[in-house]
Amino acid sequence: MSIKISPSILSADFAQLGREIRAIESAGCDWVHVDVMDNHFVPNLTIGPGVCKWIRPHIKTVMDVHLMMAPADGLLSAFAKAGADYISVHPEAHPHLDRTLQVIRELGPKAGVALNPSTPINVLEHVLDRLDLIIVMSVNPGFGGQSFLPSQIQKIRDLKTMIGKRDILIEVDGGINPKTAPLVAAAGADVLVAGSAVFGKGAQDESIYAANIKAIRDAANAAVKTRA
Ligand code: DX5
Ligand code: ZN
Repeated sequence: MSIKISPSILSADFAQLGREIRAIESAGCDWVHVDVMDNHFVPNLTIGPGVCKWIRPHIKTVMDVHLMMAPADGLLSAFAKAGADYISVHPEAHPHLDRTLQVIRELGPKAGVALNPSTPINVLEHVLDRLDLIIVMSVNPGFGGQSFLPSQIQKIRDLKTMIGKRDILIEVDGGINPKTAPLVAAAGADVLVAGSAVFGKGAQDESIYAANIKAIRDAANAAVKTRA
């Protein structure tokens, strides 16, 4: 299995999102990660379903929408209509997580849950059959450019065991670069989100993005071979 790279457009130049998305896709990314923040669940504010709708035609790969908002229930259908392929929510933001996950799938997208660094994996034990994706947050969500938390490596291993043969992908989000990618890939990650390590300061050219994506992917794929 080859590791997928999902660059976070949080670190892109927001004045030219269409161009930035076309550049990372030409540079070889697998998915496009969209960080939605509400200045309530997390201390930052980004974009909503309206912007998702406008960027959707620029995305030829997979639109991977990460909702850092509480609650998200009232906007799930707007994000689905905007064309999300995956919608992931945080369990703390939803008292009825089982129902939220059912609603996401009924609307069309695949369903994901994102776990903050302090959130234990057992919140997922009884909803595994409703999940397509689990995001392990390897930073406290809210900002790009933070340092990777090594405490999350064991969580990835434990999740891999919990998932067993189910068709659920593990995505790791936060502080991923060519040094940390091998650590999470060896532990069982399938998809790596990278914001600052792909975009740098944003508005760069496709060849820089291609080199950045390749460096992360190569380091991760080399480590996959060491998995037990
Ligand atoms: C953190 C976001 C991440 C973040 C990753 O709140 O969910 O997607 O943008 O950025 P880097 O790769 O710079 O840590
Ligand atoms: Zn994210």
